[in-house]
Amino acid sequence: MNEFTEQVLAHEWNLPFQTPRQMMIYTTFQELSTGLNYRNLRRKAIEQNDEALSTALSHIARDESAHYQFFQDGVKLYLKEDRDGTMEDIKFVLSTFRMPAHDLIPDWEHRGKVIVGQNIFSDRIFFKDIMRPILSVLGTSRRELQELGKTTPELTPALET
Ligand SMILES: [Fe+2]
Repeated sequence: MNEFTEQVLAHEWNLPFQTPRQMMIYTTFQELSTGLNYRNLRRKAIEQNDEALSTALSHIARDESAHYQFFQDGVKLYLKEDRDGTMEDIKFVLSTFRMPAHDLIPDWEHRGKVIVGQNIFSDRIFFKDIMRPILSVLGTSRRELQELGKTTPELTPALET
């Protein structure tokens, strides 16, 4: 366990986007995804009758929800200030979105498959339970982003499926 912790901490996470607005958008999607990961992992803890772990995961998931709310409020402010520019950034961020775990967790190739296999997180879950609800709360939709993408289709692969 200690060795694993050291391996995780040995990796430095490089910010995936350059501007504060893009990072605010990225973090909105990432925080809700993180919370959902913990809630879905908690189901496994409950199945295993691990009360301590399920309680800890419940607290952590609630904490992630608060983070999500903060960043989502920030994106709403950006939309109010400059809707077109912010929409372009949302489209751009979603076109390359991936969780920090991909870069930080050792042996992600294997661990990522276990997470998908256990239905804790996957692209399908991201589209249904993360992307769709967030876009709706922000007052937009995949359709609107796809319309924006018509002039620059290379920026929207994540929106095509
Ligand atoms: Fe968080």
